[in-house]
Amino acid sequence: MFELALTVNGRPVRQTIDPGLLLVEFVREHLGLTGTHVGCDTSQCGCCTVHVDGKAVKSCTMLAVQAHGKSVTTIEGVAAGDDLHPMQQAFMAHHALQCGFCTPGMIMMAMAIARENEEVTPEVARDQLHGNLCRCTGYLNIVDAVVAGAAAMRGSNAR
Ligand code: FES
Ligand code: FES
Repeated sequence: MFELALTVNGRPVRQTIDPGLLLVEFVREHLGLTGTHVGCDTSQCGCCTVHVDGKAVKSCTMLAVQAHGKSVTTIEGVAAGDDLHPMQQAFMAHHALQCGFCTPGMIMMAMAIARENEEVTPEVARDQLHGNLCRCTGYLNIVDAVVAGAAAMRGSNAR
């Protein structure tokens, strides 16, 4: 067993876990943060994307012990109380979801794209969302939302 200590959505967490536990299993099953979805479990769909020390990571590809001492953010941690994050607002405004299953992972990836690129054009959004699959929308509105959300993040200094 492993004594895991990390920060999740700004709160310190300490738990004794099986060293083979995946990060996605830890956040969903141990912490009840079920906004992080499992679409494939094989590193293809991006539904399980979270941030680890600010970087987007597919949490089905990472052991929870690899997050020891780090800061993890899930979709539950991005809004400020009742105020949605600018990227969440952009997804809502641009109707960038249908069933919503891919949406938490899309938003976590989109936030990372916005942070890591000086300018997010539709081409940049399409290229860097290649690891996030959506079975419903056809991606047009998602790309519009990512471009708008990135611009809103720059305007508001949101991270
Ligand atoms: S569940 Fe992790 S990439 Fe699909
Ligand atoms: S909105 Fe259904 S999978 Fe993307």
